[in-house]
Amino acid sequence: MCGIVAYTGQDQAAPFLLKGLATLEYRGYDSAGVEVMGADGALHGVKCAGKVKVLVDRCRTANLVGTCGIAHTRWATHGAPTETNAHPHRDCSGRIAVVHNGIVENFRELRAELEARGHAFESETDTEVIAHLVEEAWADAAGDLVAALRVATGHLQGSWAVACICADAPGQVAVARNGSPLVVASAGGAAYAASDITPLASVTSNVITLENGQFALLGPDGTVAVSDEAGAPVDEPSRVTIDWDASAATLGGFADFMAKEIAEQPEAIERLLAQHVGDGGVALDKLRLTNDELAAVDKVYLIACGTSYHVSLIARTMIQTWAKVPVVCDYASEFIYEQDVLVTDNTLCVIISQSGETADTLAAARRIRKMGAKVLAVTNVLGSTAERESDGVLYVQAGPEVCVASTKAYTAQMVACALFALRLAQANGALGLDEVRAHCADLALIPDKIREVLAREEQDRLAANAFREASSSLYLGRGVNSTTAYEGALKIKEISYLHAEAYPAGEMKHGPIALLEKGFPVVVVVPSDSVRDKTVSNIQECLARGASIIAVATDGDEKVAQLAKHVLWIPEMPDEMLVPIVAVVHLQILARYVALARGCDVDKPRNLAKSVTVE
Ligand code: M6R
Repeated sequence: MCGIVAYTGQDQAAPFLLKGLATLEYRGYDSAGVEVMGADGALHGVKCAGKVKVLVDRCRTANLVGTCGIAHTRWATHGAPTETNAHPHRDCSGRIAVVHNGIVENFRELRAELEARGHAFESETDTEVIAHLVEEAWADAAGDLVAALRVATGHLQGSWAVACICADAPGQVAVARNGSPLVVASAGGAAYAASDITPLASVTSNVITLENGQFALLGPDGTVAVSDEAGAPVDEPSRVTIDWDASAATLGGFADFMAKEIAEQPEAIERLLAQHVGDGGVALDKLRLTNDELAAVDKVYLIACGTSYHVSLIARTMIQTWAKVPVVCDYASEFIYEQDVLVTDNTLCVIISQSGETADTLAAARRIRKMGAKVLAVTNVLGSTAERESDGVLYVQAGPEVCVASTKAYTAQMVACALFALRLAQANGALGLDEVRAHCADLALIPDKIREVLAREEQDRLAANAFREASSSLYLGRGVNSTTAYEGALKIKEISYLHAEAYPAGEMKHGPIALLEKGFPVVVVVPSDSVRDKTVSNIQECLARGASIIAVATDGDEKVAQLAKHVLWIPEMPDEMLVPIVAVVHLQILARYVALARGCDVDKPRNLAKSVTVE
């Protein structure tokens, strides 16, 4: 969702701001803009609907000379994605400009009040009220831009990360955070702010993550002064150290980030296992729960959205099978408003969120925490809100995931949840140490199994042909692999815009079977597991109606090979519960090939955002 970049220093601001926006593109957006404070004492801005590269082209002929500025990618919430609605937004004088990520829930009332006081609005956005509120506050702020922003945000309800410049406060950027992510940094005599650490990774490895209710003033000499809601200085703000190189967020020879991130899965899982598995079984030091607290857990809530929700479905099977603790999985957006939430004295909630910034997931976590449950975050982003607002964290260490469609975070999160399930089983005695070690040994085989699948990507490329004429498709699987089907269908929908329906294979005959006709593509996940024969029967039912079968099957399954038009082969697995972590890789690659064949931008699918920071 919306991305913010700000710079003040001695160099020209526009090059860093535009480069920063390009690194934030993965968050998802539909318009962009930049505003620079010129040496002539005025603000100069360029905005456009569409991509950052359009903005970059327009900036070539604009007078963007100046060493302080703000920039933004907008994911439309209030008002269409037009140039007028793109940020930055200015006040009536044109001397104050703001960019904003979040939603001002009371903007209608504020706008009516501001208009009644004579302010003229240009856009349909909620954000523009902030510029006009700062304008009013600036008049009494005695030159203190943060003070003006503090007064302005004091009128807002909702969520925001805001950066603000004022032509009458040369070289200064004031920023505020409440509910939407914002990081700031000082490096090499310049000061920076951004929605996440990716634009800053090229200049520093040390960033400050602002807490809700905090403000910062960035100065042209590189100073960053953090203060709280009351204006008191925050001497020791939260810091994170970026543990990956800026090159990790570049393509490095791959055609797109999706291809790169699919290929990175074996190493991501190896890193995770190396960090947490040892002679003593599984060690998860940042859970911040004692052995006794873990042993006492009698109910687990797994809460997440999208792909991370699919992780939770696999995690439920792992926790219930290994640790024998009952699990409830819930979509965060549903959990927030459910009336029937039952929290025991020893309920543990695990939120799963790649970005750690998903608004629904964070709201759900806050709710269950208020009800007395401890919250553990499984996340890929160090210093994310999910981590900071939880009692403990399991950091999945997959490295930056730039493609909007999650791939390596999905498989790494499943492995992280497997480690959590084993840790729980180790603590409550459901498994002995030898059994835990044996499961860890099975997990250790996964990276090489995925490498085998990656080496077979030609099978996926050919199978993509089965979708050439299709306007819809069906994904089927049983047991843990019904989830593989859900995730495969989500991937193809997200990046190729081809409709895909996912069902547990046995449910097909209760409705979706009506979709089938000659040539209709049906992807069936049918590994050689305890339910394989039942799934083969479902394949027969599809064939009887003329469907075209693309099967994900275990090496050597001749029967499936005879029935399917295309087979995506997976190697034998030691434990059927781990099959989803390997089988899904074929469905990721298949989705990518289908999307490429349909001319889609696989990394930046339409309408989607990488981190969904609004409810
Ligand atoms: O960052 P999160 O894991 O909380 O994100 C949740 C979903 O928005 C996300 O998984 C979404 O479904 C992805 N686009 C999946 O590829």
